[in-house]
Amino acid sequence: MRHLMNPLDFSVEELDKLFDLANDMEKNPKKYAECCHGKKLATCFYEPSTRTRLSFEAAMMNLGGNVLGFSSADSSSAAKGESVSDTIRVISSYADICAMRHPKEGAPMVAASRSRIPVINAGDGGHQHPTQTLTDLLTIRSLKGRLGNFTIGLCGDLKFGRTVHSLIEALCRYEGVQFIFISPEELKVPDYIIELLKSKNIDYTEVISLEEVMPQLDLLYMTRVQRERFFNEEDYIRLKDFYILNKSKMEMAKEDMLVLHPLPRVNEISVEVDDDPRAAYFEQAQYGVYVRMALIYTLLGIGEE
Ligand code: NCD
Repeated sequence: MRHLMNPLDFSVEELDKLFDLANDMEKNPKKYAECCHGKKLATCFYEPSTRTRLSFEAAMMNLGGNVLGFSSADSSSAAKGESVSDTIRVISSYADICAMRHPKEGAPMVAASRSRIPVINAGDGGHQHPTQTLTDLLTIRSLKGRLGNFTIGLCGDLKFGRTVHSLIEALCRYEGVQFIFISPEELKVPDYIIELLKSKNIDYTEVISLEEVMPQLDLLYMTRVQRERFFNEEDYIRLKDFYILNKSKMEMAKEDMLVLHPLPRVNEISVEVDDDPRAAYFEQAQYGVYVRMALIYTLLGIGEE
């Protein structure tokens, strides 16, 4: 039995296969419409979500399966003090696979160690968000035609943004990726990631100004300032509008640069950018469904039956 805790749990070759499958599912939905008939996905979300939870549920429905679950800690027995270990032991007998989001780093890993069904980390605190990374990689591969040989700027809350942490780790495995980290001093990439890049001799720079680096970028990954992970509201208010991507900044970018964002967006991308052909964030959310379909199919071992 296999879980997904970290994007590195799949090798580069396995990811290629997963993305090919996701592209095939996009093109031939009928072929897969009944392949999870009789199977159930549990979504256990102890933290708010729109895209991740609903795209998991849509993915399972597209495969002909069923879904059950809860969307907040308040509406589950966590509110009565039940541990994640106990919850997953019980859910193991109700469902065939589980997607779990939790505010505590490592909680899905604890669940996986107790589970009799595959567990997918759907975001654990400020740590990892592997299925967002699968979504990001599939989007880049599908729209740019390649993974690797590009300069990517990651902008915003690089300290608390779990999607950023997972994406950097995943991109380290591809050739010719140059990272430009764009953040205020207070929201820089954590040291453990910088250490990782240094140990692998990977090219990176850290800057504060977005304008300054805009012309160099092939990809711009914008992020929301993660209010819920701040220790005080004043710091959040001071930093929340540090970057706002607008039309005039887009004029400085390459004609084929892509703008990605895991969403939800707050103020960091002005709505006037949405009509720019380089704005790919809504398409990215659509890719999230295909990649989660491919992931459920793979972890359930459907093709192998
Ligand atoms: C992200 C998350 O939950 O980390 N959202 C998502 O899953 N698409 C990003 C965010 O909340 O800012």
